[in-house]
Amino acid sequence: MDFNNELLNWYQNNKRDLPWRNTTDPYTIWLSEIILQQTRVEQGLPYFTRFLEKYPTVSGFAAATEDDVLKLWQGLGYYSRGRNMLKTAKLVQEHYNGIFPAQYDQLIKLTGIGEYTAAAISSFSSNEARAVVDGNVYRVLARYLGIDEAINSTRGKKIFQNAANELLNQQKPGMHNQAMMELGAVICKPKNPVCGICPVRAGCYAFMHNAINSLPVKLNKVKVRERHFNYFLITDGDRLLVNKRSDTDIWANMYDLPLVETDSGSNINELITHPDVTGYFGRNLKITEISPVKKHILTHQRLFVRLITMQGPPEKIKDSWRFIRFEDLKNLAIPKIVFIFIKNIFNL
Ligand code: ADE
Repeated sequence: MDFNNELLNWYQNNKRDLPWRNTTDPYTIWLSEIILQQTRVEQGLPYFTRFLEKYPTVSGFAAATEDDVLKLWQGLGYYSRGRNMLKTAKLVQEHYNGIFPAQYDQLIKLTGIGEYTAAAISSFSSNEARAVVDGNVYRVLARYLGIDEAINSTRGKKIFQNAANELLNQQKPGMHNQAMMELGAVICKPKNPVCGICPVRAGCYAFMHNAINSLPVKLNKVKVRERHFNYFLITDGDRLLVNKRSDTDIWANMYDLPLVETDSGSNINELITHPDVTGYFGRNLKITEISPVKKHILTHQRLFVRLITMQGPPEKIKDSWRFIRFEDLKNLAIPKIVFIFIKNIFNL
């Protein structure tokens, strides 16, 4: 049997029973695909269920507020996915009368839907012959075909997309795409792939040439930026001072605490003489506690975060700050690392 037959045969006998695989509804598939971007299936599953429960149709989703969507998204990271979903739901409501499109050329125009997602939704929902290329597929193709071009170079991306297009099963593109991703997720894993039970190992370049660990090739080109966040815990009896974030930095439009960003994490002098600290909190800070620093890794940033507990009111209040009653904090969308700091204090 050739690659495609072996693959489909294996998939039909071994696939995981995942809820988005039992539907051809493009709205439901869209929900699952956006949630699963950069997210493991086990982590994404409960979010998928909650979203579908709260918004069973795209029209319902389109009527949500950004705060509602971000709150439901809390803890999943890459929050722009949630914001883009709301934009797309509104577009579909307005331009497609609430009927989610299933064709690649329509999908690709929507916000937050790139080539991968448009190919996934169109092939799964209407069997359009579009090959998906995600991290799983890159790995399967690089190893099986022995492609050593970098998966994140412009040239590499074209080569991999062409290889995927050529391999695509034209009769069953949806199932073929699912099967490619499933093989990458459960057999052809990044570390310790289980080649012993791989249905296509007989034809696999990497298996035959002992190149499993050197494929796929990835260029290391992004520089990681280090940032030091000093959060201030300020209460006035039964309310906490929170900050609504701007839409130009990470965690856009979500809620955190009054923040002073410093160049280094250890120098307390840099902090207490920082113009934001002297300007808003005055020169006679009454600090009662400084938490240990927690590290939080994002794609292009490494955050070092600590919580500073302060007594007394600030001298000045920034426009983006406001006091929120403790019992209302549970309704705000708060980034995970900040949430961890305040969860126990306010029983969230
Ligand atoms: N990851 C991204 N899309 C997926 C899908 N449809 N099934 C399983 N894992 C996925």
